Amino acid sequence: MKILLTGGAGYIGSHTYLALMGSGHVPVIFDDFSNSSPKVLERLERISGQAVVCERGSVADSALVQGLMKRHAIEAVVHFAGFKAVGESVAQPLKYFDNNLVGMTRLLQAMDATACRTLVFSSSATVYGDPASVPITESFPRSHTNPYGHTKLVIEDMLSALQKSDPAWKVAVLRYFNPVGAHPSGLIGEDPRGIPNNLMPFVAQVAVGKRPVLNVFGNDYPTPDGTGVRDYIHVQDLAQGHVAALQTLAAKGESFTVNLGTGQGYSVLDVVRAFEQASGRQVPVQFASRREGDVAQCYASTERASELLGWRAQLGLDAMCSDSWRWQSANPDGYA
Ligand code: UD1
Repeated sequence: MKILLTGGAGYIGSHTYLALMGSGHVPVIFDDFSNSSPKVLERLERISGQAVVCERGSVADSALVQGLMKRHAIEAVVHFAGFKAVGESVAQPLKYFDNNLVGMTRLLQAMDATACRTLVFSSSATVYGDPASVPITESFPRSHTNPYGHTKLVIEDMLSALQKSDPAWKVAVLRYFNPVGAHPSGLIGEDPRGIPNNLMPFVAQVAVGKRPVLNVFGNDYPTPDGTGVRDYIHVQDLAQGHVAALQTLAAKGESFTVNLGTGQGYSVLDVVRAFEQASGRQVPVQFASRREGDVAQCYASTERASELLGWRAQLGLDAMCSDSWRWQSANPDGYA
């Protein structure tokens, strides 16, 4: 299938690009490079041994998107392009409404106009808010605590209205848990701008000596060691989840919403210990107060993913840490 990857030069997009190629699909990257580097394209060519097809621009530019969808005879879209920093979304909500909501609307209009109505959308476990219990199934109630999370929830609702209006739409909503790790080549990985918001890139930067200490946000949660528990999933497994979602949409012809996680929760201190083991470096920590909006525990029920997609995460915390470390130690400044 010819597949357009919006945000295809980003962290999850670039790994999914390789997974799709490996499964015989023809991915086309579409990116405005607002939160990614064009250098990723050379890396993808080195890994795959094939020229990358990439178009530059914004998903909000409907005319541009329609043109390239026709030119490349696009059959399905995987929509990664979206902003995802929680704190920034609180400070600048309009930036999030514009890029995430207006961008999604314009992209859907361009898809409709070119009669391409197969979409895989990057949603997030953030739509579960503070879950009443774990593991979290897809039927748990949804809520939001910040504008970023709100955009994911609104887009999920937009997509379900669209499917009701026209059954030709085939939409897979993938609720990612905590993507971490990197391609085993060490050539591509997560390259956050500025101070990382997320745990794994922060730990990696402490291990490589770029930052002195990890602040552990809260050690008084009702969890085994008092620190927050999350469902970390290797980005390579996540990438395969997209391949499985596209195959399922094509085979069953029905829309669905599914969690992509491992079903296993690890605490902040578990991650620190595993990273020290994988890197052979010390990761000094200090306890700090809880971060606003954080929940104690969040991990997925993986039943639906395994039944519907025939997909299960294969890689454990050790592989997540050693692949993150390979990327971080070989590229201390990311793609810069
Ligand atoms: C965060 C977002 C979530 C978003 C996801 C992907 C929040 C509240 N949630 O998920 O909406 O979908 O990223 O971008 O921001 N931690 C530390 N020290 C750090 C960083 C993190 O102790 O420097 C802890 C956190 O308190 C948490 C765990 O590590 O317990 C994971 O944090 P993080 O990687 O930011 O992911 P989430 O908060 O789960």
